[in-house]
Amino acid sequence: MKILITGCAGFIGSHLAERLQSSNHEVIGIDNFSDYYDTRLKRENAKALSQLGIEVKELDLREADLKVALPKDLDYIFHGAALPGIASTSTFEQYLTNNIIATHRLTAAATHLAQLKMFINIGTSSIYGKDVFCDEEQMAKPISNYGVTKLAAEQLVMSQSRLGNYPACSLRLYSVYGSRERPDKMFSQLIDCAINDKKFPLFEGSLEHKRSFTHINDIIDGIVSVIGKEDQCDGQVINLGTDQEYTTAQGIQTVEKLMDTKIGIDLKPARSGDQLRTKAVIDKARFILGYNPHVGLEAGVQEQIDWFQNNRV
Ligand SMILES: NC(=O)c1ccc[n+]([C@@H]2O[C@H](COP(=O)([O-])OP(=O)(O)OC[C@H]3O[C@@H](n4cnc5c(N)ncnc54)[C@H](O)[C@@H]3O)[C@@H](O)[C@H]2O)c1
Repeated sequence: MKILITGCAGFIGSHLAERLQSSNHEVIGIDNFSDYYDTRLKRENAKALSQLGIEVKELDLREADLKVALPKDLDYIFHGAALPGIASTSTFEQYLTNNIIATHRLTAAATHLAQLKMFINIGTSSIYGKDVFCDEEQMAKPISNYGVTKLAAEQLVMSQSRLGNYPACSLRLYSVYGSRERPDKMFSQLIDCAINDKKFPLFEGSLEHKRSFTHINDIIDGIVSVIGKEDQCDGQVINLGTDQEYTTAQGIQTVEKLMDTKIGIDLKPARSGDQLRTKAVIDKARFILGYNPHVGLEAGVQEQIDWFQNNRV
């Protein structure tokens, strides 16, 4: 199958590209190498992909002529490009353009792809709101510009399915970690702090926040499992994550235990838009996709530590 991945040089996109290519699909990547975090990391990801024979086109979904740029014979689009996270340095304009305008342009361009089997939106549990432990029927009540704009992006994708233009679905991911995790995320920062003897920036009140920390391999298993399930997935929103739940404190303790160290804390004011709890309810994914996440927290974090030590030290 010929498959386009947007956000291909990023954390999740680069893993997805590797997996799809190893399953003998033809993968084409798009990324604008945005400077939300160190662009050298994205360049490294793209270089590693190119060594596998995967081309990552440098292109900005907000302005490129997509009718010309997209191969006409695409079978699937996995849309992961976005401005992620809830950093106070990200402006509403950046969320608006990278998450909504970019998605609108891509969904419109995709209407010209005659053999598109499915458009898969990479969505997020952030759309649900402050305290999340629910199935996909729950009304979305996002509390951040990230969550609001990702919800709008998801609706733009799903509207194409409702209009009958092409099959589409959205996968709402929960707290993904593992090798190549974004440097602004918790496990990346904890491992960096442990290795480089730095203090971990802990947001006030967040020690008891709960998350379904999900290893990248479990997330990629879920994402690729939609291929060939167009009939079951068209028009569906599906949660993807582990149904295990851990506090931030447990995350910190896990890294400390595996790295046999104590990590100092640099207490920061609470962040606006931070969710108290995101626990994945995955009955629908189990039923439709046969989804069965299985990587335990210690094994997953160990994989990330090993990668970090081999690639970042
Ligand atoms: N990491 C998580 O825990 C998590 C959880 C839920 C959902 N998601 C979603 O997964 C997707 C990937 O997230 P990630 O953590 O890998 O982030 P990431 O920042 O590593 O990857 C996103 C990529 O998209 C690219 N991009 C951004 N705007 C673009 C544009 N206008 N045109 C082209 N490329 C653009 C960026 O350069 C980046 O490489 C996002 O849609 C995010 O909302 C991530």
